[in-house]
Amino acid sequence: MTSGPEPVEIRWGTILLRPWAAADDDAVLAAATDPDIARWNGSAVRTREDAADWIARRADWSQGDHVSLAVVDAMDGVLVGSVSLHQIDRDQGDAEIGYWTMPAARDRGVASGAVTAMCRWAFLQLPIDRIELLHAVENPASARVAARAGFTQEGRLRQSYRYGDGRKHDELLWSLLRGDLPIGS
Ligand SMILES: CC(C)(COP(=O)(O)OP(=O)(O)OC[C@H]1O[C@@H](n2cnc3c(N)ncnc32)[C@H](O)[C@@H]1OP(=O)(O)O)[C@@H](O)C(=O)NCCC(=O)NCCS
Repeated sequence: MTSGPEPVEIRWGTILLRPWAAADDDAVLAAATDPDIARWNGSAVRTREDAADWIARRADWSQGDHVSLAVVDAMDGVLVGSVSLHQIDRDQGDAEIGYWTMPAARDRGVASGAVTAMCRWAFLQLPIDRIELLHAVENPASARVAARAGFTQEGRLRQSYRYGDGRKHDELLWSLLRGDLPIGS
C-alpha cells in the first residue's frame, strides 16, 4: 500500500510552507476569484464548500501521489500562495510542480522561493530525481519563476493542456534534476 510523507513545515526566508488548514477557506475562495489564477491554475472553487473540499484534498497526502502546501508570510501567517508537488511517480522517480501567488503578494519572490524550497525538500525526502514544471507560453511570469528556481527549459509542447479559459495552449516544459541543486549547501 502506498502512503505519503508526514506533514511538514518548511521555512524559506520570509515565507513558511505549511499544510493546508480548514481556516484557509476564505483565502482559497479569494484566490479562486483572481482571473489569472482562474485562467492558469483552473480552479473549480466557487463556494465556501468548494474551498473546504479543495483544502481537504490538498491536506490528505495518504495516497503518496502529491505533497501540497500553503505558503504563508512567516511573520504574520497571512496566506500568500500555494505550491504543490503532484503526479509523484515513485517508479519513474519524478513529479510535477504547480503554484500560484495571491495578487497582493506578487513580485516579491514568493513563488520562486516556494518552488525552490519545495524542490529542495522533495529531493531530500522523496524517491525522485526529476521535477517537471509546465506553463502556458502566454504566461511569462511563470517562466521567470521557473528560471529563478533553477529549472532548465527543455522544449515547447504544442496545444498540450486545456487551461481555465477552456482553450488548449502550447506549453513550455522545464525540468529540475536532483543533481542541479547544491543540496546541503
Ligand atoms: C506566476 C506567479 C505564480 C508568479 O508569482 P510571484 O510570487 O509573483 O513570483 P516571483 O515574485 O517569485 O517572480 C515573479 C517574476 O515574474 C516576473 N513577472 C511578473 N509579471 C510578469 C509579466 N507580465 N511578464 C514577464 N515577467 C513577469 C517578475 O518580474 C519576476 O521576475 P524577476 O524576479 O526575474 O524580475 C503569479 O503571477 C501568479 O500566481 N499568477 C497567476 C497564476 C499562475 O500563473 N500560476 C502558475 C501556473 S503555471
